[in-house]
Amino acid sequence: DKRVMIDCDPGHDDAMAILLAASNVSNLSIEAITTVAGNVGVDKNTINALRVCELAGLDDTLVAKGADRPLVRDSLEAAHVHGDSGLDGTSLPESPVKQADGAHAVDILIDKLMASEGDISIAAIGPLTNIALAMRKKPEIIPRINEITMMGGGTYGNRTPAAEFNIYADAEAAKVVFESGVPMTMFGLDVTHQVLATDERMKQLAAINTPEAAAVTDMLRFYSGAYKEKFSGAALHDPCPVAYLIEPAMFQLEKVRADVEIKGEFTYGMTVIDAEGQSSRTPNVQFAREIDSNRFWQLFLQALSEMR
Ligand code: BDR
Ligand code: CA
Repeated sequence: DKRVMIDCDPGHDDAMAILLAASNVSNLSIEAITTVAGNVGVDKNTINALRVCELAGLDDTLVAKGADRPLVRDSLEAAHVHGDSGLDGTSLPESPVKQADGAHAVDILIDKLMASEGDISIAAIGPLTNIALAMRKKPEIIPRINEITMMGGGTYGNRTPAAEFNIYADAEAAKVVFESGVPMTMFGLDVTHQVLATDERMKQLAAINTPEAAAVTDMLRFYSGAYKEKFSGAALHDPCPVAYLIEPAMFQLEKVRADVEIKGEFTYGMTVIDAEGQSSRTPNVQFAREIDSNRFWQLFLQALSEMR
């Protein structure tokens, strides 16, 4: 199995990413789930991570709470997308029995990486605060990260005209990570908006008779609210980097230079993608352009019908 730590802010699509990683179709061993302030505050995101672990049967998986605010900028949340709890619309038990570890997420990231043979990847599906802090606290982890597969950025924005939420929410942290030299695969809005929970997909989901599929159906009914004006369904952003770890061939990737803007008046938090090779800067990311969305849905629906 491939070893992975999931750094997240659950969040409906984060929850779906965790379920996919925990399912029977996955070849991933989840070493830890670390939480960060993002969609809602870190306390709520942590409770949600624990609730999702209980649903997914991840009873022994380490969950650790991380940064409660971005490095530099003020906190920014997305409660208008995910509701006050961060996971509105579900009937998951409100207070999980499972507890978070006592250690800080940043220390868990550092300890796991330092104890590894360099074979642990990080699926980063929230703002990049914890990962930047870990890199600053213990730079020795940098060469030990196998790969970061990240949901964030793109050639356009969903929070401002230029910026996507995860990058905008902590652009300074994103800059640290993008410039770290760690191999990165980036799943921005260009590709995640290709994975939509259309009416047809909702029907297929509803036909699956498992608690996990029922929970995802509830989540999507709520979470689609934020998307229905512009899209034919909710975008499954965060499952993309997990799907990539399970089945990379599903994606078309391009090696490019990507830099995070932290100064622009109109472009703060933008990921500047050098698609035409204009800069002499070394390419630092594999940028996901296309996904075989039919294959994604096949895998995702199968995951929800046969959890581990
Ligand atoms: C990203 O922002 C969050 O609201 C989602 O969970 C996802 O990680 C999409 O822009
Ligand atoms: Ca997220």
